[in-house]
Amino acid sequence: MISHRQLFFQHIGQTSQAPIALEIVKAEGIYMFDEKGKKYIDLVSGVSVNNVGHRHPKVVKAVKDQLDKYMHLMVYGEYIQSPQVKYAELLTKQLPDKLNSVYFVNSGSEAIEGAMKLAKRYTGRPEIIAFKNAYHGSTHGALSLMNDENLTQAFRPLVPGISFLDFNAVSQLNRITEHTAAVIIEAVQAEGGILPAEDDFMKKLRKRCNETGTLLIIDEIQTGFGRTGKLFAFEHYNIVPDIICLAKGMGGGMPIGAFVSDKKIMNSLTYNPMLGHITTFGGHPVSAAGALASLEVIIENNLSKEANRKGKIYINALKNHPKVKSIRGKGLFLAFELEGEGSVEKVINKGIELGFISDAFLFDNTRFRIAPPLTITNNEIFESVELIKKALDKL
Ligand SMILES: Cc1ncc(COP(=O)(O)O)c(C=O)c1O
Repeated sequence: MISHRQLFFQHIGQTSQAPIALEIVKAEGIYMFDEKGKKYIDLVSGVSVNNVGHRHPKVVKAVKDQLDKYMHLMVYGEYIQSPQVKYAELLTKQLPDKLNSVYFVNSGSEAIEGAMKLAKRYTGRPEIIAFKNAYHGSTHGALSLMNDENLTQAFRPLVPGISFLDFNAVSQLNRITEHTAAVIIEAVQAEGGILPAEDDFMKKLRKRCNETGTLLIIDEIQTGFGRTGKLFAFEHYNIVPDIICLAKGMGGGMPIGAFVSDKKIMNSLTYNPMLGHITTFGGHPVSAAGALASLEVIIENNLSKEANRKGKIYINALKNHPKVKSIRGKGLFLAFELEGEGSVEKVINKGIELGFISDAFLFDNTRFRIAPPLTITNNEIFESVELIKKALDKL
């Protein structure tokens, strides 16, 4: 009989010539199990998705309960759907007053597309500024926010009017002008190797946006939902963005995204033209029910604060390892810098052999990442630290 592995390579559209190609048959908490029964600790949470772990019982229950009520009813925005409205109420309660209106979508890329369109529509301006070494998604608009020639040149022409600044470069903020509709930034650059924005830079960026009437969009797609030790990474900086983009960790394992803004701004998508952004499955009720349960779990269990405490355990346990040059990040969002070409790949591959999943970065090949479920217990942290040490020892 033809194996799943053969079918995968024959019939599944591939993203690279070297996919990890593990066949996982079950996942629970921080663990995934392959078809041979081998156990892996998921230290990347499916790339910042499983913040409450795999198949959190409350998320599973909420999803099952919603399945018994209704699935898709109508395109987004027409009907009143209880999982969406309850979610929006709970989410906006956690946010500053001016982030009070939630537009539900399907993914991170779509949240970015929506935010870019909203900023252009609201300000009537043509230009957007993004930062070098950022990844905001793979659709045409989101891809246009990436300044890596290798990854973008085959898809040109991209969306015009986008320019790039160096991250944390205060001296370049004067390139934000009255023509700039929006600046889009991650408070902690994820694919740049978990590089936090500097406090002074973020404050000056907010100030410059205020001076020029430019909307500040913060991409919280990887950093959101407790990952960095606050519910959202912008909270580290004592500033309030005009729009935030959410996805990944939002759904507790279900696909969903959103962009959130002030109703006054958001309403501009309803006229001139009406239907400024539309989406069939945005905020799918089953995903929204999962998202609501997941957010409740994060809040009730104080998982943002826990991420800080747990992140420190990793740092303390690994900072003196002779192969670790430096560790940076916030909360349970950590990047380990290694000496020597190819070391990152070696640790990641060794991890798979030993039974843990870590990951590389798009724009930094000197570091590997860990971003475990925020629900990870102390014992599980120690179990994973031993495995990481073993992989490092082999370098
Ligand atoms: C910071 C950031 N923004 C946006 C996206 C795009 O999200 P999605 O893959 O859901 O389209 C990603 C995905 O990795 C991301 O890391």
